[in-house]
Amino acid sequence: HPVVIAVDGPSGSGKSSVSKAVARRLGLAYLDTGATYRAATWWCLHLGLDLADRDAVAEAVRTMPLEMGVDPSVESVLIDGHDVREDIRTTRISEKVSAVATNLEVRAELGRLQRALIDAQKAVGSFSGGRGVVAEGRDITTVVAPDADARVLLTASEEARLARRALELHGDAGTEAVEATKDQVLRRDRDDSTVVEFQVAADGVVTVDSSDLDFEQTIQAVLDV
Ligand code: CDP
Repeated sequence: HPVVIAVDGPSGSGKSSVSKAVARRLGLAYLDTGATYRAATWWCLHLGLDLADRDAVAEAVRTMPLEMGVDPSVESVLIDGHDVREDIRTTRISEKVSAVATNLEVRAELGRLQRALIDAQKAVGSFSGGRGVVAEGRDITTVVAPDADARVLLTASEEARLARRALELHGDAGTEAVEATKDQVLRRDRDDSTVVEFQVAADGVVTVDSSDLDFEQTIQAVLDV
């Protein structure tokens, strides 16, 4: 029986690292749907598009030559042969990704792509142990895979999320680093919220609040679900 685990959450909730770890422990594939939005943003900028031109952006995403890896131990994101793993995590992309993710045609297109990747993993057992996938993002529990076997909303207090992101981006979680992270994280969540609900758990979705949990405890809480 293939297993699909859907994890959603806001920026800095730890959903990527936790989902990856859960996938590794269960021998499942791992799908980072945020990376598909980041890749789409990279591609549109590479083509020199104005991100406000919704039709041009949607068309570019429809024909984007993206190859997404789903091995939880080996990150791989290729666009037209370019290895964009590192580039898509830069501030240049983080600042602009919401402009692409709030384009509804883009959401429909990437949603289809994500669904196809999930279905492929249900059919093929390419990783040690199980058949299936842990897919994480903002609308996986609600739109992309509402039929998942387990659905989790991973949350954390604003304070905890900012501290984690500051640590990731600046190597420390002092007042200055947190201030520098604030605009990025909070503004992006606000913009994203205009098209997807990921602050409140939908019916049947279990909330895991990681504010006071360490990494291992959070993994356990998701495994419990
Ligand atoms: O870095 P962070 O964990 O906050 O975000 P991410 O998972 O890398 O996603 C980057 C961006 O992609 C988000 O800010 C959203 O704009 C978009 N996204 C989305 O709209 N729907 C998803 N299922 C996943 C990501």
